[in-house]
Amino acid sequence: MSARPRVVITRKIPEACEAEAARRFDAVLNPGDTPLTAEQLRDALRTADGLLPTVTDKVTAEVLGVAGRRARIVSNFGVGFNNIDIAAAKALGLTVTNTPDVLTDETADIAMTLMLMVARRAGEGERHVRHLEWTGWRPTHMLGARVSGKTLGMIGFGRIAKAMARRAHHGFGMRILFADPFPPKPEEAAALGAEPRNSIEAVLAEADFVSLHCPATPETRHLMNATRLGQMQRHAFLINSARGDVVDEAALVTALREGVIAGAGLDVFEGEPSVTPELLTMENVVLLPHLGSATLETRTAMGMRALENLSLFFAGQPVRDRVV
Ligand code: 8YV
Repeated sequence: MSARPRVVITRKIPEACEAEAARRFDAVLNPGDTPLTAEQLRDALRTADGLLPTVTDKVTAEVLGVAGRRARIVSNFGVGFNNIDIAAAKALGLTVTNTPDVLTDETADIAMTLMLMVARRAGEGERHVRHLEWTGWRPTHMLGARVSGKTLGMIGFGRIAKAMARRAHHGFGMRILFADPFPPKPEEAAALGAEPRNSIEAVLAEADFVSLHCPATPETRHLMNATRLGQMQRHAFLINSARGDVVDEAALVTALREGVIAGAGLDVFEGEPSVTPELLTMENVVLLPHLGSATLETRTAMGMRALENLSLFFAGQPVRDRVV
């Protein structure tokens, strides 16, 4: 019997996935869940046939270029892959895969959560109650902004944006606008009540809520900078469930402080897990610790999908979710 492929799984993943990994592979797990150092990642690529990293592993050109590399596949746990130097992987002939589809609904749900929370002051209200500051109901207490029937502007209109649009339009009667360099067919957009706009600026100008749904690439870095934040309406809210790099966090802090926009709901941050300290002091900001895909069901499905990509690769078959 030939030896089973050795796979290094960099973080603790749901139990069912770890058990499945151990069945299929010579799996090296991380029960302590301590993030690997660059040297440990290099070592993993040197000693294993495959690497299964997460968003917290910086799989840089330097890591991938380790001398004597044995691994030929990086099976990312996550749909976003900005933690991996894709150009370097391609140049080295490595296969990189991701886990799309299985986290679409969960991430759309968290974007809706952020939108509702920030508009209806839910985080602030929760703190108010917990801090025993609530003195009782009154007609003018903690008035928020209505969500139903408002205009949701989406920057990027891929799977997750469409799932959010479905919820917002069919559930909350919202009008949906979007800008995307690769728009869907008109009938697909129409089924979601979504109208295309030719530019990001056109979306920003009309939206009551702006939700970000583009990948983190060099082109989208700081896409929401001071200028674009200034193009939003003063009563509008920014929602980010994509990647922190898409927003210039310093410019966002200034925009919030100066009332350029009304508030923000953020699940991702530029330097996560660090958060710009001033954001922590702002009541009109909702902050979540990158929970987009964080349900047991979806994290299990992500793990299984990453294992499926590895199995197909080792069987010499086309992988399901090739990035390069
Ligand atoms: C993951 C995500 O939790 O899939 C993504 O792109 O941001 C999250 O769903 C994270 O990437 C895990 O590596």
